[in-house]
Amino acid sequence: MSVLSILEFPDPRLRTRAAPVSVFDANLKQFVADMFETMYAANGVGLAATQVNVHQRVLVIDMSEERNQPLVLINAEIVAKDGAQVYQEGCLSFPGLYADVTRALKVKVKAQDPDGKDFVYEAEGPLAVAVQHEMDHLEGKVFVDYLSPLKRSLLLKRLEKHRKQAASA
Ligand code: NI
Repeated sequence: MSVLSILEFPDPRLRTRAAPVSVFDANLKQFVADMFETMYAANGVGLAATQVNVHQRVLVIDMSEERNQPLVLINAEIVAKDGAQVYQEGCLSFPGLYADVTRALKVKVKAQDPDGKDFVYEAEGPLAVAVQHEMDHLEGKVFVDYLSPLKRSLLLKRLEKHRKQAASA
């Protein structure tokens, strides 16, 4: 396995729309394993293929404390959503940045596993946030897109500052 490098905003490649996965082979399984390794190494709770510059509809999530509840969704599509929630989100492509985003409280998705088998997955609360956040990445969308222009520019200034501090540390 290997840890992949994560694209950081405003890298324009984060705006790429991912293509559906059509080949479910050993390479795909290796890629999924690498995505988990990358996400765990970065202490993240979710990662979309877009963030590692692979433009295919693959996302991984693990929101458990113990890091033992891996979820892989391939070619995920939302088939139903319900309610609303506000949750403070972060993103591995925006180190040190957090912002409240409003999303559906519950989602039901249709997806495939790494063997190409179809399944339906239902999530609620923070897990539903993660599913929606990662699915957005595959559309080239990032969480700051939901903020007002003023809020977004303040946060992005903070991100720039954080980056400069990290570079000089
Ligand atoms: Ni993200």
